[in-house]
Amino acid sequence: MERDGQLESIWQSEIKHYGQAQTDVTPNKEVVIVGAGITGITCALMLQKKGINSILVEANNMGFGTSGGTTAHLNTFFDTPYFQVIKDFGLESAKLLANGAMEVHDIIKDNINTYQIYCDYSTRPGYLFSLDESQDEELEQILEGHRQVGLDTFEVDNNPFGIPSVRVVEIPNQAQFHPLKYLRILLKEFINLGGLFLEDCRVTSVDKEGDDIVATTTKGNIISKHLVYATHIPPGRNIMHFRNAPYRSYVMAVKLRSGNYPEALGYDMFEPYHYYRTHNIDGEDYLIAGGEDHKTGDVDNTTDSFERLESYLGMHFDIESIAYRWSSQFYEPADGLPYIGHLPGSPDNVYCATGYSGNGMIFGTLAAKTISDIISTGSSDYQDLFSPSRVKPMAGLNNIITEAGSVIKHMVVDKLAVSKIVSLAELKNDQGKVVKYEGDTLAVYKDAGGVSHILQSDCTHLYCTVNWNQAEKSWDCPCHGSRFDINGDVLNAPAVKKLKNISELL
Ligand code: FES
Repeated sequence: MERDGQLESIWQSEIKHYGQAQTDVTPNKEVVIVGAGITGITCALMLQKKGINSILVEANNMGFGTSGGTTAHLNTFFDTPYFQVIKDFGLESAKLLANGAMEVHDIIKDNINTYQIYCDYSTRPGYLFSLDESQDEELEQILEGHRQVGLDTFEVDNNPFGIPSVRVVEIPNQAQFHPLKYLRILLKEFINLGGLFLEDCRVTSVDKEGDDIVATTTKGNIISKHLVYATHIPPGRNIMHFRNAPYRSYVMAVKLRSGNYPEALGYDMFEPYHYYRTHNIDGEDYLIAGGEDHKTGDVDNTTDSFERLESYLGMHFDIESIAYRWSSQFYEPADGLPYIGHLPGSPDNVYCATGYSGNGMIFGTLAAKTISDIISTGSSDYQDLFSPSRVKPMAGLNNIITEAGSVIKHMVVDKLAVSKIVSLAELKNDQGKVVKYEGDTLAVYKDAGGVSHILQSDCTHLYCTVNWNQAEKSWDCPCHGSRFDINGDVLNAPAVKKLKNISELL
C-alpha cells in the first residue's frame, strides 16, 4: 500500500495492498465521492447502506493520504478545547460538538461489531498533562470546559507514561484502532453492497450540466447528482484555502528498554503538543509518539524535525530502537472547527470536509455522517455548526490575516530568495533544492545515485514556489499544502496537475 511520502508508517507494513479496485468503468451514479480515506470510505458505505448508489474515486489507493499516516487516536475531546468552543461558538454548540464525538464512537463501535472487524480496537483512558505552570493554567480552563459540556474528567496522581507532570487529568473511554484494518473492511462492505471503487483515477474538474454534476476524471466523465470532496482539502481554487492552513506532524514508533507500554492515550500541552499511545503489531509492542508540527513547506530541513522529536522522547523514555518514523499532513481551520457541508462557490450538491486539525479519525467519521445525512434527508444536526459558509469573525479573523500574510510572503519573497547555481554538479547526492539555473527557477533533486530529477518550481495550484522535504522526498508548497513527488506527480491536493518535469529538456 502506497502513502503520500517515502517513509513507511507503522500501518502500511501490515497491509501492503487492498487489491479489490474496479478500475475500468465510469458509470452514472447518484453520488461521486472523491478520496478513499476515512471520510470518503465511511461516507460511501453510509450512503450505499441507505440504497443511494455511489462511486468512490481515489487518485491513488485506499489510505494514500493522512488516513494511512494518522496515529488513530479516537477521542471525545479535540485540539480546539471545549472552553474555546464555548467562548467562540457558545455552550450549546460545544455540547453539540461533544455529542458528535460520542456519536462517532458509537458509529465506529457499531461498524466493528456489525462487520466483525479485527482492527485492534481498544477502549483506553486518555490523559492530559501539564508540564509547567502556564500549561497548568490552560489545563484548568480545559477542565472547566469539560465540566460545562458534561465530559467526565478527573485528576489523577500519576502520569501512566512516566513523564513528570505538574498535573494529570484522566478522560475515560477514549479509544484507538488500526486505521487501515478498519477502513479495508468498510471499503469491502461498500463494494459488497453494490458500490463502485475506482483506484488510480484523479478527478481533474467538476462542472454543473443541467441538474447533473459532471466530474472529469483521468478515466473519463462520471455523471452524478451529488459530489463529495473527501480529499482532506478540496482541490482547485476555492475559499477553503483561505480558511485552512496546512501543517505536518512527525511520528515515531519505538521499542522501549523498560518494556512498559501503558494501555493509555496521552497528550502534553506544549504548542504544538506531543501525543502518545501504544500498539501491538505482530506480537511486538511499540510506543507511538508524535509532535514537532510545523507549517507545510516552511522549514529548511524536515529531517531536523525527527531529530528534535527523538531527542525530546529520549528525555523521558529509554529508547531501544526506532522501528518506524513518518510524517503526515493535517489542516488547521481558521476558527478552530472543521468545515463540512456545501463547498462555497461550487455548484449545488458539491460538498467538502476539511479543517480536522489533529482529530481526523473523529471528524472524518462525523463528516461522513453529516454529509450522508444532508444527501439522504436534506439536513443534518451538525450542518450549521460545521457549515463552510459560516462567518465567525472574532474567532477566525486573526488566523485568516496571519495565513494570508504568510501566503503573500511565499508568493513574492520566496521567488527572490532562490540561490543561483552555475552547474548541477553543485548539488550533492540525495539533496533537493530550488535553484536558479541558466535563467530558470527549477526544483532539482539529485538522487542517491547522482541522477537529477528536475521540475518547474511553480506549484500548479496558484504558483507559489515549492520547497524540498528531505524526510519524505517530496516537493511541498507552503501556500496551501499541495505536495508533489520527485517526478512531479501530485501527492496532496489542492493541486490537481503535476509539476512539469523538465529533466529531459536540459
Ligand atoms: Fe496553492 Fe501551491 S498549494 S499555490
